[in-house]
Amino acid sequence: MNVKEAIYAWYQTNGRHDLPWRQTNDAYKIYLSEIMLQQTQVKTVLERFYFPFLERFPTLQSVAEASLDDVLKMWEGLGYYTRAQNLHHTALTCKGVLPKNPEELGGLKGIGKSTAHAICSFAYHQALPILDANVKRVVCRYFALSVKDDKVLWEKAWKLLHVKHPYEHNQAMMDIGAMICTPKNPNCSVCPLEFTCKGKNAPENYPKAVQKAKVPTKKRFALVVVQEGKLGLMQRTQRLLHGLWGFVQLDEKPSDAKSLGKVIHTYSHFKLELEIIQDDALHVNVDGWFTCKEIEQLALSTVDKKILALSTMMRNIAPTS
Ligand code: ADE
Repeated sequence: MNVKEAIYAWYQTNGRHDLPWRQTNDAYKIYLSEIMLQQTQVKTVLERFYFPFLERFPTLQSVAEASLDDVLKMWEGLGYYTRAQNLHHTALTCKGVLPKNPEELGGLKGIGKSTAHAICSFAYHQALPILDANVKRVVCRYFALSVKDDKVLWEKAWKLLHVKHPYEHNQAMMDIGAMICTPKNPNCSVCPLEFTCKGKNAPENYPKAVQKAKVPTKKRFALVVVQEGKLGLMQRTQRLLHGLWGFVQLDEKPSDAKSLGKVIHTYSHFKLELEIIQDDALHVNVDGWFTCKEIEQLALSTVDKKILALSTMMRNIAPTS
């Protein structure tokens, strides 16, 4: 049996067929899963986000008809909010209907080449390979490539693709990358690619590990301001958290502010260490004043939720006041 047939046969018996995005051919539901899974683990997407999002937004048309605030509210806690902004933007640009052509799909905001190929192969069984981070590792090892060069990787991914069964092939490659050909201690003995895999004797060399720069720590202050029982919040405008509501952040600590505690959060490119401070007399520009009950209706990032919880506890405010 050649490697393509071995991958296909492996998928029939060992693939994760019951994942909900593998039980549908609705391109929107597949697209949504791919976007959620770009930076989040299957377990988290499955247990907390995929179904509630689809319940609220059953079609791409319903995303297009909603406000960005409503979409962000359903994305709350999932992180990497640019994904939700792009999803909303894409729903509007394609007027609720995704194109079926991979080049057109790949031109939409937030949809790269691999995601476009995933959508086309999963929804329409088009013969296109994928190359997400896990699959790149499998391909590097199989062909003993020590450097991840996109041009070479795409060539190899095309070479390996089972053109008669692109759906099963791509899902299998994802499963093998996630469950067998793991970054550490790959389980080669159960891998369907093992027989002809060039990298199996030294998988740690393929791809060769590059020394990652340590992420810098940013130290800032998150300001809790209360007036007449309402909290002052701002709506973020910067790229990363655009549209989300949150506490005002400052580089310096105002002299009369009292400290309520610390919140630490690690983003992909930096670690944020926030000291939570309160100074109700400080004059700062906020975008709105809200009771805790009203805040429940807004989309807040995980960091701002942590600050809210901490400040509520420290100031002994009833959550519903
Ligand atoms: N990660 C990205 N796409 C996936 C899929 N279709 N199944 C499992 N994990 C994935």
